[in-house]
Amino acid sequence: MKKIGVLTSGGDAPGMNAAIRAVVKTAYHYDVDVMGIQCGFQGLIDGKIHRLISQEVEDIADRGGTILKTSRSIEFMEETGRKKALEVLKNFDINALVVIGGEGSLKGAEKLHDLGMKVIGIPSTIDNDLAYTDYSIGFDTTLNTVLECIGKIKDTDFSHDKTTIVEVMGRYCGDLALYSALAGGGEIISTPEQPLDLYTICSKLRSKMSSGKNDNLVIVTERMYDLQELQQYIEEKLDISVRTTVLGFIQRGGNPSAFDRVLASNMGVTAVELLINGYSGLAVGIKENKIIHKELENVNVEIADKQEKYRLLEKLLC
Ligand code: F6P
Repeated sequence: MKKIGVLTSGGDAPGMNAAIRAVVKTAYHYDVDVMGIQCGFQGLIDGKIHRLISQEVEDIADRGGTILKTSRSIEFMEETGRKKALEVLKNFDINALVVIGGEGSLKGAEKLHDLGMKVIGIPSTIDNDLAYTDYSIGFDTTLNTVLECIGKIKDTDFSHDKTTIVEVMGRYCGDLALYSALAGGGEIISTPEQPLDLYTICSKLRSKMSSGKNDNLVIVTERMYDLQELQQYIEEKLDISVRTTVLGFIQRGGNPSAFDRVLASNMGVTAVELLINGYSGLAVGIKENKIIHKELENVNVEIADKQEKYRLLEKLLC
């Protein structure tokens, strides 16, 4: 193997740069050239490719976002788009590819593997919605950002005996809400895995208030509620004033945490070593503190068992 390509795809996540750095450094260690593909699969189709030299990635591990930029490519979802991408890889003499991204990106990686390209995936999404790996790159940083924001909201809530609804990201995965609450960030949480209806949210709030706690945070995962409706419902049922904060894209940016940088570095080195040893069609991950790999076609088959975490939460939020 003489030349590998690397791209980031889907939503950016803090730590992607540390993964790029690890891929580039490891490849050069083994005398393999690295081509950086700009703007994810769309940039691949469009031939936005240049040689990545080691100096370019020297000081990027601490930077949020992705120096390669990213996209969600509609064209790549079609077979014709993927065939174009394959042609471009051939034209650039790229024999193997590292794809850094979330669920959709790993699916894209699998499709390229099916077409005969050697591909390894690295999980990077703030949502942490890939069940085969305990953590994806970016989740820890985002969780810390959420906790920082929530901490600030709690200060003002406490001072005014106020209730705030906070909406966090996660797409269809409740990990950001779940882990925030585990870390002491909220009184009531509702996630896609354990959704609460409006009535239950109000009963829980009522019981908090009758025990003397009048500043309460309700953390909900995005896409679950019409927030205006939820706020109004609580206000009417409990006769209190409620505020709503949508944390939004503040959650995706920022310098990666030490955990994410180390994780990304581990995964980047492993991905290149797997390619060099002739493997393809795999995604690296971390399970019980060990770097593992799983077939790309199976990354979504497993359902993550979060029961133990929710069991803990019951004790903490009672
Ligand atoms: O997958 C990462 C994520 O930030 C989700 O949490 C969110 O639902 C989505 O991306 C937002 O996507 P976009 O950047 O395309 O608006």
